[in-house]
Amino acid sequence: MRNKGKALLELSELTKKFGGLTAVNGFNLDISKNSITSLIGPNGAGKTTVFNLITGIYYPESGSITFNGQNLAGKEPYQVAEAGIARTFQTLRLFENLTCFENVLCGQHCRTYSGIISSILRTSAQKQEEIKVRAEAERCLKLTDMWEFRDEPAKNLPYGYRRRLEIARALATKPQLLVLDEPASGLNEKEALDLMVLIEKIRNSGVTILLIEHDMQVVMGISHWIAVMDNGKKISEGTPYEIQNDPKAIKAYLGTDDNDDFYGSEIAMAFNETKTVPEYKGGERVHGAS
Ligand SMILES: Nc1ncnc2c1ncn2[C@@H]1O[C@H](COP(=O)(O)OP(=O)(O)OP(=O)(O)O)[C@@H](O)[C@H]1O
Ligand SMILES: [Mg+2]
Repeated sequence: MRNKGKALLELSELTKKFGGLTAVNGFNLDISKNSITSLIGPNGAGKTTVFNLITGIYYPESGSITFNGQNLAGKEPYQVAEAGIARTFQTLRLFENLTCFENVLCGQHCRTYSGIISSILRTSAQKQEEIKVRAEAERCLKLTDMWEFRDEPAKNLPYGYRRRLEIARALATKPQLLVLDEPASGLNEKEALDLMVLIEKIRNSGVTILLIEHDMQVVMGISHWIAVMDNGKKISEGTPYEIQNDPKAIKAYLGTDDNDDFYGSEIAMAFNETKTVPEYKGGERVHGAS
């Protein structure tokens, strides 16, 4: 069973070690163009490390990362951004004292060309670029329903809006692929549902989505394809319906040693709850929780 459609990103035999620990071990995954693909798995499975490999924060020991036919393994983060991949982080990384508008302007750094001299002289090319950059920031803030907060410093925003602002800033790099690391973390139920709507909206605007998320309502509600990771390896992949009914995926979340531990039981509940939320047919969502 494979993620249907043309692959925008192909991860092949990716391996990353930290000393004696193999955090990612021969990992393979195809991310189809225009899909929402989720990477799930218990804490420490290696999910964020996969994202850090894709976005150039770590170099893989071996394996390839092919994006639009170009191997990104070993590229620097700015080169990955230029190639068309943007990300958000598991823990928020905003410029707290800058306004929302300024935060999103900063996101466009990799798409601007004016140098120091033309900026000082305010050449017409530089002025044209500034107009474009501001228009793009406006587009991203409107897409994420953050426009009304444009003049508000990031530090004044409620948590849910701070998460949205990070997404707006990532979109400002005009990515083809947006990589989101636990965007629903810390959100209440209403904010998580709003986030699902936003992610679908971004996907509908032509951006492919790769998501790490522990909130099973979100994962099962919006994903076209799900890969399950445990101990650095992909142990399963399929449609949400297939994953919810896959004993390997459920076992990875429940664990084998102590089924009564808090985290395990919370995930077990999530698996059970989501059975009533989404309905899928052949990998396509028929109707869902958005
Ligand atoms: N920079 C690092 N140095 C050493 N070990 C690391 C480093 N980054 C990650 N690890 C280890 O690699 C393993 C995978 O970590 P990773 O952060 O990728 O997991 P994860 O699946 O994202 O977990 P979580 O769901 O808790 O965010 C863990 O054992 C972690 O402690
Ligand atoms: Mg992580």
